[in-house]
Amino acid sequence: MRRERRTVRSRETVGPYTLLRVERGGLEPGVPGQFFMLEAPGRLLPRPMSLCLAPRGELAFLIDPIGPGTQALCSLEPGDELHLLGPLGNGFSLAVERPLLVAGGIGIAPLPYLSERLGGAPALLGFRSEWHAEATALVPNAEIVIDPVLVTEALKDRLQPVPDVLGCGPEPMLGAVRELVPSAQLAWEAPMACGYGACYGCAVEIGGEWKRLCVEGPVLSGTDGSGVRPLTRPEQAAA
Ligand code: FES
Repeated sequence: MRRERRTVRSRETVGPYTLLRVERGGLEPGVPGQFFMLEAPGRLLPRPMSLCLAPRGELAFLIDPIGPGTQALCSLEPGDELHLLGPLGNGFSLAVERPLLVAGGIGIAPLPYLSERLGGAPALLGFRSEWHAEATALVPNAEIVIDPVLVTEALKDRLQPVPDVLGCGPEPMLGAVRELVPSAQLAWEAPMACGYGACYGCAVEIGGEWKRLCVEGPVLSGTDGSGVRPLTRPEQAAA
C-alpha cells in the first residue's frame, strides 16, 4: 500500500460512466477486487474505487458520477493531479476452475482487470438500460441482460454444473447471487472514509459481528459473506 500524487492521463466516456486513466508511478495494481482511495477534488473525504484496468504504466477506474465526490472525480482533466492510496483490502481469489464473472450496473468496475487475469473468463452482466450496457465493451466474452430481466434470472440457467462465481454489484443482487451460489466470491460495497481500518465507517455485520469491510473485504466468499448486513446511513448514500 502506498500513497502517491499522480497525474490524470485521460478521461473517457463509457455510457453513463467515466473511465479515468491515471499514471501508475510506483503504485502496484494489486489483485482484482482490491481498491484505491482516490482524492476527490474539493471534497473532504476520498472515494473508494476498485481498479478497472491495469495497462502498463497506468491505473484506470470506472466511475459512476452519482454524487458530488464521484462527479468531481469525473470532472478531472488530463494533466490534473490527485492523491491515490492503495491497493487496499482483499481481492478475489484467482484459484478457480470454472470462473463465471457476474455483475450488475457499476459493479462491472473490477471485472475488466479480473477478466484479464482469468484469461477472458465468461461473464454475465446486468444493466438498467442499453446506455449503461455500453460498459460491456470493457469485458470480453460477456452475455448481457437488460432490465427488467435480472442477472440472477440468467444465472439460474448457468448452474449445471455450478460455476465459480466472482461477482460485484448492488447489495440485493449480491444477496440473490449468494442464495443461488453460496460459495460465490462477492465484492460488497460500504461507505469508506479511510480505507485501511481506522475509521469504522465501513462496518458491516458478518455472522453477528461487526467487521470493517475495507479490512475483511471488500471481497467475501462462502460462509464469510453469509451474514453480511451493511450498516447503511442515509447521509452516506450520496457518493
Ligand atoms: Fe475506515 Fe474501513 S473505511 S475502517
